Amino acid sequence: MQQRYGHRRTELKELFSLDPEVTFLNHGSFGACPRPVFEVYQRWQRELEREPVEFIIRRLPDLLAEARAALAEYVGAQADDLTFVPNAGTGVNMAARAVDLQPGDEVLATDLEYGALNFTWEWVCARAGARYVRAPWDELLEHVSDRTRVLYVSHITSETALLLPVEELVERGRELGLVTIVDGAHAPAHVPLDIEAIGADFYAGNCHKWMCAPKGSGFLWVRPEWQERVDGAIVSWGYADDANTFLSRTELQGSRDSSAYLSVPAAIDFVREHDDAERCVALAREARRELCALTGEEPIAPEHMVQRMASFRVPGDAHELQRRLWDEHRIEIPAMRNELMRISVAMYTEREDVERLLDALARRLRTSRSPA
Ligand SMILES: Cc1ncc(COP(=O)(O)O)c(C=O)c1O
Repeated sequence: MQQRYGHRRTELKELFSLDPEVTFLNHGSFGACPRPVFEVYQRWQRELEREPVEFIIRRLPDLLAEARAALAEYVGAQADDLTFVPNAGTGVNMAARAVDLQPGDEVLATDLEYGALNFTWEWVCARAGARYVRAPWDELLEHVSDRTRVLYVSHITSETALLLPVEELVERGRELGLVTIVDGAHAPAHVPLDIEAIGADFYAGNCHKWMCAPKGSGFLWVRPEWQERVDGAIVSWGYADDANTFLSRTELQGSRDSSAYLSVPAAIDFVREHDDAERCVALAREARRELCALTGEEPIAPEHMVQRMASFRVPGDAHELQRRLWDEHRIEIPAMRNELMRISVAMYTEREDVERLLDALARRLRTSRSPA
């Protein structure tokens, strides 16, 4: 087992700019961008600064189309059905506003959705006089009422890090005539992705998490029949009569730096060259088994729902433990709610990183259990 995490992996870790003094087990929050991809990103920025007008007016539309095509091919979509957005949260916001909720409508979501996007739905629902209803994922459809308009689910949940059966939920939702919106913030390059096969009405994803693209690169995929309802974050040149399309409205968003989007093809190449999905999933599951054995806590869900991140219960206050792991061991791992922590296994994460966490945690548990 040990050799599998040996020499080659260490070299891969060195391709990332991560601080070698830190045991970085929180890829899930913001990703990490490898140097070769970051260099491509900076090259685009230098080209932009060399001749901004040439770059933005004459070259950018074709460059964005090429980047979109590469991304679409990677996530199983047609290039013209997806648009770049700064992050998955923006994509979900755009979808939520496109639906045009009416007073009395209900939006049904799992009770495992990402906190900031619960705010989005609460806000959009409050404005429309609609209701945001949450229920456990495994009984979600039992909560569909004759007022339900939207079914909203995460592909991989944030705090609990669980892969949900989105294909099945979306299929059932569409059979019931609901608008289906998937928050896929964690999915691209975390699990194999075929957005058209999932068949939702909207799918928002991030490139800056598991695809390791620069920060500020996400996308929103929209089923063709919904595209005319989707607005850009701002109303701008893309709304001119002779050019008013889904892509023009969402891509022409004033002066901005599109270098993160243009670097997405380089990120895809990097992932294709270096990622070992089987190893990451195996290490995340192994880590979860060992962490549960150490804490004596039960796993929060069956193993097949765990991919490259695993959330596990910890005894005591998870936030206090997080602070200690950071202050005393330089281990970066997030606390989720008061009782969970979440470990991420990215392509550069080594067995030794997991062992450092296990050792530190064992020490902390011994300290907290020993009589004062
Ligand atoms: C499930 C889920 N959705 C949405 C987001 C938001 O991602 P972003 O901040 O890139 O929009 C996150 C962030 O971690 C997430 O875990």
